[in-house]
Amino acid sequence: MPIDMNEVTFKVFRFDPEKDKKPHWQRYRVALRPGLSVLEGLLDILDHQDGSLAFRFSCRGAVCGICAMYIAGTPRLACRTQVAELKREEITIAPLPGLPIIKDLVVDMKPFFAKYEQIRPYFLADAVPGEKESLQTPQQRRALAEYIDCFLCGLCHAACPVAATDRRYLGPAALVKAYRFIADSRDGHTDARLALALGEDGLWRCHTIFNCVEVCPRGVDPTHAIQEMKRLAVWRRLAGKTRP
Ligand code: SF4
Ligand code: FES
Repeated sequence: MPIDMNEVTFKVFRFDPEKDKKPHWQRYRVALRPGLSVLEGLLDILDHQDGSLAFRFSCRGAVCGICAMYIAGTPRLACRTQVAELKREEITIAPLPGLPIIKDLVVDMKPFFAKYEQIRPYFLADAVPGEKESLQTPQQRRALAEYIDCFLCGLCHAACPVAATDRRYLGPAALVKAYRFIADSRDGHTDARLALALGEDGLWRCHTIFNCVEVCPRGVDPTHAIQEMKRLAVWRRLAGKTRP
């Protein structure tokens, strides 16, 4: 980006299913200022140029995961993406791919969360003793810290080429959460959880492409979680702990 540039163009995907027959792109000029994030740029447009533009945000500080979008060809959080760091005169901003569009940059996350529900993201019955605390050592807690940190933004799912071509594939986010419970010393339902993750649309569909690792804003490594579950599944089969 030239040093003296004081404006940048946001090329934004627009589509209102209630009014438009098909999507189109709309360009807006946004004044540059130090520290301008893509989200702040979108808010400038909303406040001063076009109140009809729809997008989601909440925390503005990379805490909630709601502002996930497709920015300059990569799934990113809008609030965490600095305009200056993109080094472009024109920044393309589109909704996360592979999900139904509600309006403009707002997608319907129901299909994403339906996959999350499939892995049963809660302690299974009888896993936690009801009346007393279920203690963990600091080491046991550390083993799942990374996976608890996942805030379900959907960026990894949007970056995954397998999820893009196979709508039934559970995808990296749901599989991370499956491993989060397997890694939890209080759960103890490894076989049942592996069975949920191992189905036809589960972890063997992962081609170990690592896109999910690259885009995760929380430093979670979905590929590692998936590989660990594959290793566990094979080991348990060889040890005769699961049926062929
Ligand atoms: S693993 Fe990372 S990219 Fe994927 S949903 Fe969780 S926080 Fe988002
Ligand atoms: S607005 Fe919460 S993560 Fe961006």
